[in-house]
Amino acid sequence: MENEKRAWWKEAVVYQIYPKSFMDSNGDGIGDIRGIIDKLDYLKELGIDVIWLSPVYQSPNADNGYDISDYRAIQREFGSMDDFDEMLDKAHKMGIRIIMDLVVNHTSDEHAWFVESRKTKENPYRDYYIWKEGREGCPPNNWGAVFGGSAWEYDRETDMYYLHSFHKKQPDLNWENQEVRNAVYDMMRWWCDKGIDGFRMDVISMISKDQGFPDAPVRGGLYGDSGEFTMNGPRVHEFLKEMNREVLSKYDIMTVGETAGVTIEEAKRYAGESGEELNMVFQFEHTSLGDGRYGKWTDARVSLCDFKDVMGKWQTELEGKAWNSLFLGNHDQPRSVSRFGDDRPEFRKTSAKMLALCLHFMKGTPYIYQGEELGMTNPYFDRLEDYRDVESIHAYQELTEAGLVSKEDMLRFLKLRSRDNARTPMQWNGGDNAGFTQGKPWIDVNPNYLQINAEQERRDPDSVFHFYQKLIRLRKANEIMVYGAYRDLIPQDENIFAYERIYGEKCVRVLCNFTDRTIPCELKNCKEGSILIQNYGDTERALLPYEAVAFWI
Ligand code: GLC
Ligand code: CA
Repeated sequence: MENEKRAWWKEAVVYQIYPKSFMDSNGDGIGDIRGIIDKLDYLKELGIDVIWLSPVYQSPNADNGYDISDYRAIQREFGSMDDFDEMLDKAHKMGIRIIMDLVVNHTSDEHAWFVESRKTKENPYRDYYIWKEGREGCPPNNWGAVFGGSAWEYDRETDMYYLHSFHKKQPDLNWENQEVRNAVYDMMRWWCDKGIDGFRMDVISMISKDQGFPDAPVRGGLYGDSGEFTMNGPRVHEFLKEMNREVLSKYDIMTVGETAGVTIEEAKRYAGESGEELNMVFQFEHTSLGDGRYGKWTDARVSLCDFKDVMGKWQTELEGKAWNSLFLGNHDQPRSVSRFGDDRPEFRKTSAKMLALCLHFMKGTPYIYQGEELGMTNPYFDRLEDYRDVESIHAYQELTEAGLVSKEDMLRFLKLRSRDNARTPMQWNGGDNAGFTQGKPWIDVNPNYLQINAEQERRDPDSVFHFYQKLIRLRKANEIMVYGAYRDLIPQDENIFAYERIYGEKCVRVLCNFTDRTIPCELKNCKEGSILIQNYGDTERALLPYEAVAFWI
């Protein structure tokens, strides 16, 4: 659409850093802010515009920093506020913006607000959280927590239960309370005044709960699935409009909401062009495809038709109305090449490039998760002891102990779906621990770092790294990649993802072979000189295994 509103965050490419696994500067095995400072040059070379920094706040780390005990302090393992300021300043001087993770659906149980809240029923902070009486010695309702068990934790002090949608060390804030909202807005202004460039808002679709707190349907497992009562709740848009008026509208920042359970209609409200709430949302329909009876714990592979159906739907239905964010991986998802591509050695590089091309030519702001630009793969850990993630460990215990899933099956599901697949250390070079640390890494390095690492890829002009670099450059040079309208060409085809972007008189065609076979393709009629980017040098009327090409027509 030629008359679509322009915005820097529509034109940007975002790179997500999971600090714990990015770069360790002091040999304690844990990534840190000084490590990030050391690698800013690398990010500049890649060409990204914005860093999304997963949480670096003070935290007891029940969920790797997504359980915050002080929103205005930096976690000691990650460094100091001075380190943070230096990082922000250096990044800005290089033309890189930084957006922070905003985790305000819950805090840590060690946050001062909760420490107070649990003391007595009369405490001024009592209503900062969601407290309910039990039902005859049982929790107030049957809701399950995302990380296993009941979503309610009994607290002996006052003989009541508090709600925790995630881990019991992550009590949910009570957004019905205006004081809570004001305290959150204050904190957000404090960071904006420091000069940060925006927020990625953690599970922001969950801040407004159905105040009836009814029992939820049990779908598989032992507890009720509370989604319909916790996601996209009755007041969520009211709260975000208020946040926008109070904070967001006062700064030139970008915002992206992590909105589990979001529908197209909801997304148009969260991320509408009118700009009353957020700039864009993460939807999870494509990453939930194949989920089964036990949620994400399955080995089902996604069919290309389903994938195209979901991606295409979001592309066309938000057109001109709301803005998409584009991603295939993040710190909660397995590695994109292992999941949607093919990580066998003979196909890894080609299929990683194919996925990159497929995603970056769609309409929306693309996100690269650290290591994705190298084609990093799942580590395929063999033993439960190799995992660190609370969600993975709890799910293993809960499902195997209840006899619902066998241990062998569960280990297989973890290899495919555990969040730790994305959390193994960044592979910088072929040296000890992939150059991530001089000490012992907090989680094992993927043994394939000798073949897959940044140093070697920066030297190799044909690497996945250079392919990403080229995609980013193309985006800067061709408005059509940002603003062109999307059209799917062959939605029913089971092998090829083919679409076009149309912008005024111009049109780019994108063809991606999602199989390990050569597939004849009449749509591949690129003329000499018309190719923008491709992952083979071939121009026959067929697509080689995992071939991808974008060309002018
Ligand atoms: C989000 C985060 C995830 C975290 C959860 C609870 O989904 O991305 O890592 O565990 O929220 O904060
Ligand atoms: Ca460190």
